[in-house]
Amino acid sequence: MKNTIIALTVAGFVTFGTAAHAGDAAAGKASFATCVGCHGSSAEGGVGPKLAGQPAADIVKKLGDYKAGKQMGPMTSMMAPMAAGLSDSDMANIAAYTSSL
Ligand code: HEC
Repeated sequence: MKNTIIALTVAGFVTFGTAAHAGDAAAGKASFATCVGCHGSSAEGGVGPKLAGQPAADIVKKLGDYKAGKQMGPMTSMMAPMAAGLSDSDMANIAAYTSSL
């Protein structure tokens, strides 16, 4: 029993450490408030595509591409201004949040 508790505690720290490195999901949730109108309150999709469950690295890559002015889908002009205001850490945090949903 004691060993189980220690193992779970260690696993918890490892998980937390990984998440903190990849991005802060709690901060991402706060930033995502400006996105819910188009992507849904649980990132389930709406005007914009579903983001929930996509790998964090994919979300970061796409946001970077929008910010860089790359033509993505047919509605790029709607999304590009949203990405333009995000810093690298905003992107990492948002990606950590949406990938956790
Ligand atoms: C005005 C509506 C709107 C808002 C607000 C908005 N988006 Fe989008 N988003 C879109 C649309 C529409 C697309 C698809 C654009 C295209 O055709 O390339 C998109 C695409 C995306 C994609 C690529 C998804 C994929 O699978 O291809 C990501 C990631 C994304 N948005 C993240 C965000 C984040 C993060 C925010 C908040 C900072 C945000 N969006 C705010 C409308 C919006």
